[in-house]
Amino acid sequence: MQRYFIALLCLGFVRATLQNFTVDDTSPDILYSFPTFYCDTSCPQEVTEGLFNRTATLTFGSITFSFTGTAFYASLDLVGTCSISVDGDEIGTLNTSFADAILGVSKSDMANGPHTLVIAPTTEGTVIGFDHLIYTASLPAKRHVGEVVGGVIGGVVLTVGTVFAVLYARRRRLILRRNQRKSAVLRGISTLSTGV
Ligand SMILES: *[C@@H]1O[C@H](CO)[C@@H](O)[C@H](O)[C@H]1NC(C)=O
Ligand SMILES: *[C@@H]1O[C@H](CO)[C@@H](O)[C@H](O)[C@H]1NC(C)=O
Ligand SMILES: *[C@@H]1O[C@H](CO)[C@@H](O)[C@H](O)[C@H]1NC(C)=O
Repeated sequence: MQRYFIALLCLGFVRATLQNFTVDDTSPDILYSFPTFYCDTSCPQEVTEGLFNRTATLTFGSITFSFTGTAFYASLDLVGTCSISVDGDEIGTLNTSFADAILGVSKSDMANGPHTLVIAPTTEGTVIGFDHLIYTASLPAKRHVGEVVGGVIGGVVLTVGTVFAVLYARRRRLILRRNQRKSAVLRGISTLSTGV
């Protein structure tokens, strides 16, 4: 009974769980096509001011990041022009002549699954200063709840099964004993009758 109650309690919390993960420019999951220049305290403060973790990675090449989820939010500095594409489709372009602000690019409400983000320069001499990105992963709540409920049901089945097995064994023992007694009685009677 208690286990059923716990199962119902778990079912009450069924819903997809969205969780944000932050990936800094230094993460090995960010792939740079060109040699990069790492900017931390080695760069002028005006460059690193306001950056996540006060670091950025500068590059003349493209930046690729693959993730599984439903959204991403990237922050970067830019001098020049670049295109932003997701899964091969361009979702926007950026064009700045001064790196005066940290730019944000994002896409949300995507189908939950694997996606590849590519930020690529589209003009000669473009410098991208990649700061960080956040991506949203949809945790497989369904499977998790399935496991919980499956576990609970499994536990109940196991408990009921054990009770039945014990009862069955006891019943068999009782029947066996009764049959033995019966046989003994019958043997006794037959001995008596043949003896007479
Ligand atoms: C993830 O981060 C973005 C950008 O900061 C925010 O808009 C969104 O609500 C966050 N989502 C979750 C599930 O925390
Ligand atoms: C900030 O940068 C330092 C040094 O680059 C790194 O060790 C640390 O993990 C970073 N912190 C976060 C939250 O990414
Ligand atoms: C970028 O913007 C500037 C000024 O707004 C414009 O002159 C230039 O042609 C643009 N470059 C591209 C490649 O769109």
